[in-house]
Amino acid sequence: MRIDVVTIFPDYLAPLGLSLLGKARAAGLVDLRVHDLRDFATDRHRTVDDTPYGGGAGMVMTPEPWGRALDALLADQATPRTQSPQSPPRLLVPTPAGRRFDQPMASELAGEPWLVFACGRYEGIDHRFVEDAAQRVRVDEVSVGDYVLAGGESAVLVIVEAVTRLLPGVLGNADSLVEESHADGLLEYPVFTKPPSWRGRDVPEVLLSGHHQAVARWRREQALLHTARTRPDLVQAMDPAELDPADRDLLAGLGWRTDPDGTLSPPSAG
Ligand code: 6GU
Repeated sequence: MRIDVVTIFPDYLAPLGLSLLGKARAAGLVDLRVHDLRDFATDRHRTVDDTPYGGGAGMVMTPEPWGRALDALLADQATPRTQSPQSPPRLLVPTPAGRRFDQPMASELAGEPWLVFACGRYEGIDHRFVEDAAQRVRVDEVSVGDYVLAGGESAVLVIVEAVTRLLPGVLGNADSLVEESHADGLLEYPVFTKPPSWRGRDVPEVLLSGHHQAVARWRREQALLHTARTRPDLVQAMDPAELDPADRDLLAGLGWRTDPDGTLSPPSAG
């Protein structure tokens, strides 16, 4: 996968050279390039922002450097000697006003050959840049959660990490992906390792039993209990067909109701 990140703070992306992703880059699984937006400014001060039309607080990033940066990346695609994918990239614009980034979106992006991230700062990027870009590439505005960051860079760290760990060969143990939180719409069950007893707390007996079916059932129950308590919205969003009778009994014990059409309602919903 190729990933380009355009930002006014290239150093902010330094962690992308570490850990799992650093190894994936060294192994040639991920071709990640960080570009300084100011290299696409044309004035002596390398200006990339201006005051907003219509008034208001803060500064807005001007469309020209962004347009030139995207032009340069797309031209790179047309150059045969580079290793760029032959299909156009997807452009992702991190913004708190975007579509919420989640695990299904991470999986979807992991299937793309080329991603370009445009990191906005200040009050955002002049909207014409997004409109112009959308005539040439697929553009998605993405948010990593319902809170406001100072800029898109830390959101890009989050998105790139979530996406690249799904690429074949990046994780040492691909089985980790099957059982983790959000893989089946539920949060993960608690995990334990040695010692079997620590500060008076014992590892749950069933995990030492060697009884695989009992272990699987216990983990499923723990995941469902934990998710129902901390993220009832995730349980409600589940396909009711994914709940077996034991799951339903467990939820009923917590006060959840199964409506005649099979949908689930949490205890507080009346
Ligand atoms: Cl993607 N960017 C910024 N600046 N703030 C955010 C965000 C992104 N997601 C949530 N808050």
